[in-house]
Amino acid sequence: MIILRFKSPAAWLDAVLNDFDAFLIDHAAAEKKASGMAVSMLSHYPDRTELVNAMVDLSIEEMTHFREVVKILHARGLILGADTRDHYVNALRKEMRQGTEVYLLDRLLIAGIIEARGCERFGMVAEGLPEGQLKQFYRAIAESEARHDHLFSDLALTYFERDIVEARLDVLLDREAEICAALPIQAALH
Ligand SMILES: [Fe+2]
Ligand SMILES: [Fe+2]
Repeated sequence: MIILRFKSPAAWLDAVLNDFDAFLIDHAAAEKKASGMAVSMLSHYPDRTELVNAMVDLSIEEMTHFREVVKILHARGLILGADTRDHYVNALRKEMRQGTEVYLLDRLLIAGIIEARGCERFGMVAEGLPEGQLKQFYRAIAESEARHDHLFSDLALTYFERDIVEARLDVLLDREAEICAALPIQAALH
């Protein structure tokens, strides 16, 4: 359902492959934030049973990804970085509208879009890496991000009518394409 409207450039993949250590440190931070985001969602909507169940599972899965990336970092003699702002995520968050219902819809759709972008970019990394364990790892990560974008769009359809979901997604996908196109090329997920 979530089809991105901007294709990440090959120059982005080059930047990642040229400084893979920096990319790994940023990737770890992204997984940790994804897990924290899932916990914050279920804390905000304790009465939405489907959402709570989905976010419990997601927070654990993202934390498992985090653990795996931390292991890779440590095996390479690297350490975690300090938390930094993610301009891409922050720019998308600015699109969230005020109001209980629309805020929930926007949160779900933006989370799904972020997962879809993760899927695209981790998939590019998997393609760009030489055969080996790291390539397998990024393939698996890309597959799980693909499941997550469906998870969020399905949740949106659980709580909102399809035409409302599609109309809002249309607006947000255009905005995401602009935000993504304006990102600096760097060895980071965003
Ligand atoms: Fe993840
Ligand atoms: Fe994810």
